[in-house]
Amino acid sequence: MSKIQVAIIGGGPSGLLLSQLLRLQGVETIVLERHTREHVEGRIRAGLLEWSTVDLLNEAGVGARMMREGLAHDGLELAFDGRTHRVDLRSLTGHSMMVYGQTEIQKDLADAHAASGDHVVWEAENVAIHDIHSRRPRVTYTRGTINHEVECDFIAGCDGFHGVSRESIPKEFITLHERIHPFGWIGILANVPPVAGELIYVNHERGFALCSMRSRSRSRYYLQCPLDDDISNWPDDRFWDELRARLPCEHANGLITGSSIEKSIAPLRSFVAEPMRFGQLFLVGDAAHIVPPTGAKGLNLAAADVRVLSEGILEYYHRGSETLLDEYSNRALARVWRATRFSWWFTTLTHKFSEETFAHRLQLAELDYIAESAAGAKAFAENYVGLDETPRQAR
Ligand code: FAD
Ligand code: DHB
Repeated sequence: MSKIQVAIIGGGPSGLLLSQLLRLQGVETIVLERHTREHVEGRIRAGLLEWSTVDLLNEAGVGARMMREGLAHDGLELAFDGRTHRVDLRSLTGHSMMVYGQTEIQKDLADAHAASGDHVVWEAENVAIHDIHSRRPRVTYTRGTINHEVECDFIAGCDGFHGVSRESIPKEFITLHERIHPFGWIGILANVPPVAGELIYVNHERGFALCSMRSRSRSRYYLQCPLDDDISNWPDDRFWDELRARLPCEHANGLITGSSIEKSIAPLRSFVAEPMRFGQLFLVGDAAHIVPPTGAKGLNLAAADVRVLSEGILEYYHRGSETLLDEYSNRALARVWRATRFSWWFTTLTHKFSEETFAHRLQLAELDYIAESAAGAKAFAENYVGLDETPRQAR
């Protein structure tokens, strides 16, 4: 049996970022990831970072390429009722957002690990967690045909929504809150210039649409679609026609189309598990919470969890105090619930739920309030760029 200070389950953005921050400060970690590095880097997901996430990646020493290649955005467009309105995030909040793909963050983190003697076990199978209520919990796993056992001080469950960490917690110790939204998103990635310089969120009678990007020559577009829809129903031409139909005229006319290089359907779900700590096991990122992607909060919440947990673990090793670790769950959950509320609210504001005209008129009235009222715009912008402060009334 080997010994390590922190065992991290999952080599997605949460797991690798936590490991990177801890190793920079002399804490020994091992990361156990079920898939190959190539597989994890191939998953097209988030693309929009809050500035606090940008800062954390820089603090972790993996921000250089992001600062060179990422696109800082000071605003976004809301399109509804045949008009468009620009929300000036920077003047309303003092903050911008950064366009930089999760795949690139994943590569930067994996490169940093490889350069410093790699503590990531790719293709770790049958990962299991033991004795989380003792001071020396253990993790077992298989690689190839060999069984391994690692004893540690702490386990970080960074293994996403379908991981083993949350499942290891006895049901009586965990409360799950969930809402499954009655539609999904079909997303397309294509090597074509984005239709506009900033992101466009569209409320349309035919359903929601989002125009995003990965670079000046690579676009990412999403459309609301039925929950049980199949990707085979969406040849590229149908996707582009439907996007054009939902966009305001000035953008529809300028849309450049091309062959998709990735296409996938994602469900929209709100989910929170609480608390986020069980003995020596800490849940991080998607393992503890999922938000519908509308507010671009998932990866940013995961990074915020990592910041709070890394501070707690470092305080334990450097000063012998467990105070921050004891506060981890409450501090993280306060932010999680704010982001869950915002993501849910922004989803209800922009998606088509039914044919009911009353509900649609209410959406338009609320969007109009954001467009016309300084208070409405500020409340939206503050939530969108990320609420930095942990609310004082964290439970
Ligand atoms: P994951 O990325 O899920 O990583 C978990 C890792 O654990 C995986 O590599 C998995 O293989 C591994 N694992 C699982 N089980 C095991 C096991 N038993 N043993 C070992 N390893 C295991 N967020 C944003 O902030 N901004 C956006 O713009 C945004 N857009 C999105 C768009 C889409 C279409 C989707 C689907 C998501 C989007 N998100 C966005 C959400 C974001 O991608 C996630 O919140 C983020 O990936 C969470 O990171 P994580 O490391 O916690 O979990
Ligand atoms: C992206 C995804 C989102 O959910 C969002 O709100 C903004 C951007 C993206 O993948 O680029």
